[in-house]
Amino acid sequence: MRTLLKNIKGLVGAFDEVPREVSGVAMAQFPVLHNAWLAVDNGRVADFGPMSEFPGIADWSGLDIVDVDGRWVLPAWCDSHTHTVFAHGRSEEFLMRLEGATYQEIAARGGGILNSAKALQGMAEDQLYEEAAQRVRYAMSQGVGAMEIKSGYGLTLEAERKMLRVVARLKEAMPIPIRATFLGCHAVPPGFEDAAAYTQHVAEVMLPALAGEGLVDFVDVFCEKGYFGVAETEVILEAAKSLGINGKVHVNQFNDIGGVELCVNQRAWSVDHLEVCSAEAIQHLLEGLETASLEDRSPTYPVALPGCSHFLSIPYAPGRALVDAGLPLVLASDHNPGSAPSGDMTMAVRLASLKMGLLPSEAVAAATLNGAAAMDLSREVGALGRGFRANFMVTHPMEGLQDIAYRFTDAVVDKVFLSLIHISEPTRRYAISYAVFCL
Ligand code: NIG
Ligand code: FE
Repeated sequence: MRTLLKNIKGLVGAFDEVPREVSGVAMAQFPVLHNAWLAVDNGRVADFGPMSEFPGIADWSGLDIVDVDGRWVLPAWCDSHTHTVFAHGRSEEFLMRLEGATYQEIAARGGGILNSAKALQGMAEDQLYEEAAQRVRYAMSQGVGAMEIKSGYGLTLEAERKMLRVVARLKEAMPIPIRATFLGCHAVPPGFEDAAAYTQHVAEVMLPALAGEGLVDFVDVFCEKGYFGVAETEVILEAAKSLGINGKVHVNQFNDIGGVELCVNQRAWSVDHLEVCSAEAIQHLLEGLETASLEDRSPTYPVALPGCSHFLSIPYAPGRALVDAGLPLVLASDHNPGSAPSGDMTMAVRLASLKMGLLPSEAVAAATLNGAAAMDLSREVGALGRGFRANFMVTHPMEGLQDIAYRFTDAVVDKVFLSLIHISEPTRRYAISYAVFCL
């Protein structure tokens, strides 16, 4: 199956050579090809170029032509931080917040993550799967073309396995790449004396068992006052390292307890949240970037989650300062029932410009190629390089990328095209019923 998109006002992220990520000033130079065409063959980007140099069509057989009529084409969003598998929303806690309680006070009363864990432990795997699949389908219809999903609402071996099995089923059924992150250390469940005792159980029993079943691509820890300290985070990162698994770690959401320094020293794949982010933390990330480039490997990616800042009314990660320092900033949704009940990546991009001062091209780069890099997927998604998966969106008419944030409540995404190259035959028909166009 071949598709040709013509008369594209701006083709974004079409590189001749796609870099692993873009950092600092290179983020503002994320490529835009004006008045362009894009050819897709068998689910992959075949070629692209300016309309003025369109070579013509030699073979018309089985060719679909889409006249984009002056719209923009962007790589699909790559959402590298989500908690998309959960048992139910927590809108009653939202009401408690409106009545004056803080997120931390609600958690201290047994709400928050422990509340989600109780509900999830009681829900059958099939129902959990159906509800999560619904959320993934909705995210895809809003332009998401790759996603990471964490466990962490199970907190027992059995319930964490149930969550990760749901993620494994989503990987099979959905036409987008999905990464599974084991977040055993999300909160200390009842029955354990303290965070250290539970961490030992996670490192010695849960992680090896779940990794042995092939259910874990990354590990995560909620490194935060009242949850897990730097010492516990280190135990998990070391245990994961011995299994060849990298860390994507929740750090500096409410307090800086030294998580960034530890994660950079441990060569964690990413540090996520960073709402509290000092100049020293930025310096640690820069040192990590330098060492990584000397060793020719990925740096520790800084991941900002502006939806969480918006929803909890807490500071935004200093995105402008992180980019100005030369770092490869990433944007993700943090979709979860407590601190960010939305998987809308377009909103994350809008907030990045409106609240963090990012240029439109920087925000788009952070939510596409850099998001893919933060999942180790930037060789196949996040940009429109030749041979890449044809996962992209066509926007509504826009003057320029700045309209995404300027018209801050208008719909941006008109149509989403997702490649079906890795989807198995039995689930193929099912996939085609999404509100997206499958290539
Ligand atoms: O990324 N901070 C830790 N985890 C989630 C929220 C978890 C919850 O409230 O359910 C987050 O914000
Ligand atoms: Fe999170």
